[in-house]
Amino acid sequence: MKDIRDYSLLAHNTFGTDAKCKRFLEYSSVEEAQQIVAGLTAADQPLLILGGGSNLLLTGDYEGTVIHSAIKGIEVLDNETLAAGGENLKNPDFVFLNCGSGEVFDDVVAYAVEHGYHGAENLSIIPGEVGASAVQNIGAYGVEAKDIIYKVETVEIATGKVVVFDNQDCQYSYRQSRFKHEWKDKYLVTHVIYRLSKHFVPDLDYGNIRTSLTAKGIENPTAQQLRDVIIEIRNAKLPDPKVQGNAGSFFMNPIVEKAKYEELAAQYPGMPHYTIDAGHEKIPAGWMIEQCGWKGKSLGRAGVHDKQALVLVNRGGATGQEIVNLCETIRKDVKQKFGIDIHPEVNVK
Ligand code: EPU
Repeated sequence: MKDIRDYSLLAHNTFGTDAKCKRFLEYSSVEEAQQIVAGLTAADQPLLILGGGSNLLLTGDYEGTVIHSAIKGIEVLDNETLAAGGENLKNPDFVFLNCGSGEVFDDVVAYAVEHGYHGAENLSIIPGEVGASAVQNIGAYGVEAKDIIYKVETVEIATGKVVVFDNQDCQYSYRQSRFKHEWKDKYLVTHVIYRLSKHFVPDLDYGNIRTSLTAKGIENPTAQQLRDVIIEIRNAKLPDPKVQGNAGSFFMNPIVEKAKYEELAAQYPGMPHYTIDAGHEKIPAGWMIEQCGWKGKSLGRAGVHDKQALVLVNRGGATGQEIVNLCETIRKDVKQKFGIDIHPEVNVK
């Protein structure tokens, strides 16, 4: 267990902002998580439960306690283990992977691809850790974490009890879960059990996956080929945080009423969109930001990535506040041009 006062979070946020927290606590097992919650006092508030820091913008020092999981491990649960948990899962079609919340999420994807466990390929190289996948419902290329999450094991902060949630309990939707709302700061995630398929049914319909594969002469990709092409597409569009600080998509794509979408579609015939249901459409915020002229532009040392306008970048030495200023200016411009409010996906602290 780690318990450090006045700790620099520089290595814990991909925006590369140098901020400190008053106290940093890290657990490497369920027991340590229980020890941590038992020792918390009012002086530790507010809490910030941190994953890989790939979805976080620190605007200054954090006057509270940061809690981080360092629980490692990727373990195939056998039917007996699952049966011991009261389940009857002798299903030959699936594999259940129990992963420590501090494990790097992409290491799980790589492990799954290597072993022939399927369903996670499109989530390749999303930065961040296993715990955050269950909180944030991370997603890319038509797949979301919720599609492979089976159970989420947590320690309840108020009681120290181990509480295991089913996928359904977590009420997942686009980049949302109960962990971000009524369960916020109430649970520490310790393990996530993913349910993967032994059969490979590739999901190639999103964006340019299929055309990228065709360009390589691949019609029926293997899981590894699909992973490789996703990595290539992402690397071409998204900046490497080791080179230029960023937190991936800065904004969520807004979901709007059908009537609003139709009004805009008449005005902008080429506008990309994704149908959510009969009454709602999702409009890419990156497209709107580009239409506002922000792609590749900067405000102070904060900038908009030149290959993907949804990504804000630290051009070098930007403070969290400079990035917030850019965020607010963009939000105002998008609102003015399209009449739509866009909201950060990134956790601004
Ligand atoms: N677009 C533009 N200009 C831009 C960016 C996008 O016109 O600068 C257009 C694209 O041409 C496309 C549409 O907007 O028609 C969607 O773009 P893209 O497929 O690149 O995805 P996105 O909606 O911008 C989302 C996720 C990404 C994920 C991609 C691929 C969110 C907030 N972001 O971005 O996730 O990789 O889809 O599935 O939903 C992340 O969360 O950090 C992240 C990178």
